[in-house]
Amino acid sequence: MLAHSDNELLTRVGPGTPMGTLFRRFWQPVSLSSRIAGPDGPPSRLRILGENLIAFRDSNGDVGVLQALCPHRRTQLFWGRNEEGGLRCAYHGWKFDVTGQCVDMPTEPPESNYKDRLRTIGYPVVERGGFVWVYMGPRDKEPGFPEYEWLDLPESQRMVFTGLQESNYLQALEGDVDTAHVSYLHRYLHPETAPRPAVFNRGYRDFVGQDVSPRLSVKRTDYGFLYGGRRTLDDGTYYWRCTPWMAPAATYLPTTGDLGQALIRVPIDDSYTLSAGLIWSRTGALPEGPDTTRRVRPVDPGPTRLAGGHVIDLPRGATNLDNDYLIDRAAEQDKFVGIQGGTNAEDRAVTESMGDLDRSQEHLASATSPSSPCVAACSPCCASWTRAPSPRPRGVRSSSGCAAGTSCPSRATSSCCSRRTPTTCSWARRPPRPAEQTPARPTTTPIARQRRRAPLRCLVPHAHVPSRGARRRPGRQPEVSDPC
Ligand code: FES
Ligand SMILES: [Fe+2]
Repeated sequence: MLAHSDNELLTRVGPGTPMGTLFRRFWQPVSLSSRIAGPDGPPSRLRILGENLIAFRDSNGDVGVLQALCPHRRTQLFWGRNEEGGLRCAYHGWKFDVTGQCVDMPTEPPESNYKDRLRTIGYPVVERGGFVWVYMGPRDKEPGFPEYEWLDLPESQRMVFTGLQESNYLQALEGDVDTAHVSYLHRYLHPETAPRPAVFNRGYRDFVGQDVSPRLSVKRTDYGFLYGGRRTLDDGTYYWRCTPWMAPAATYLPTTGDLGQALIRVPIDDSYTLSAGLIWSRTGALPEGPDTTRRVRPVDPGPTRLAGGHVIDLPRGATNLDNDYLIDRAAEQDKFVGIQGGTNAEDRAVTESMGDLDRSQEHLASATSPSSPCVAACSPCCASWTRAPSPRPRGVRSSSGCAAGTSCPSRATSSCCSRRTPTTCSWARRPPRPAEQTPARPTTTPIARQRRRAPLRCLVPHAHVPSRGARRRPGRQPEVSDPC
């Protein structure tokens, strides 16, 4: 739960807002490269961080991203002609190059040099990794380009996609770093007959239903944080789902084998989000699966009219709030939720239907384990928690990494990370659960009838990491190991 003022602080992204300023200090993927037509092709309408923009590819193939309105009389440059090295406004013919410089002003007398002194807003652009990236912050604060490992892979090894998320960016991001929900929202009740996606595959289908109460560990990093959700499988081994979060709104999702999946959430404005994502293979061509082929089907390129009247050339999801995400109750014999359209539609349904979420109205709970209130809420200050020896007294954090008096964002556990005052945490006073080593599992759902699976093995070196020595010994609390 957040105070209303904190909620406002975190979710408003327009020009001049604190979060809008923060996002503007990072390079943002604002479009697929393939969505910007070839040289002198039609321009494409964008809306990023509350600003309406126009993107076009000039005669040389360079991409420009400019303010959407012509600086002359403020009409839409979208109506203009993209020709001979610039975008020419439809109204009086003024023309702008990819940097925003006015290069022709035909309605002025030949002796006028006004065009040389006029430029519209044009942002620095980089095309890499299948995306068009834009930096919208102060020029003297331009950061280095984020060198993600997948940026320069051949196209055969990656699949990029963008989508419209009809919610604030933070609602989407909260889902990306919420491991508990995959045991329900995305769960197949009969994993042995469920579709076998290429990316998520075995762990995702077979394991997430065996333990629906994952234990979280969080580690602060220089790029954001890394967290692991540990599930105890029926055979006593652990299944870790690990997710790095990279500021301001990028995550790597748990995957299988040599594959990776990333999601970058880019605020369109306070109510809409551009989801830029990709799946990549580190060593060879992408394997085929329902998740790696579905998104490459041709889709309606839009346009989409947003609630505020702004038009963007980004398609709305085929399943959306207006058609109840095509929920099929009969399908709930096989899936926990009958929403159609895959995991993306399931994620969108639960977040988009929240409306303009005010987190002061939420009722957050531990949700995952006795340790999670502190670990999850105090993630910035519990950097070394996962390295602490175990068993540990409940409520006592690691001996380093949590400075005494550190302010915790959760008022309910405001002092749980202070070494001097560990017992003031309400959770700290809670006695250990006798059955903690064997978390209760549902016994009445179809999941309880699932067959036991083979022992866990390392599925993905970079994302799914089983605990070293995690197999249980009778009568002894398993050690909590560093997940990654
Ligand atoms: S409004 Fe664009 S040239 Fe006049
Ligand atoms: Fe999800």
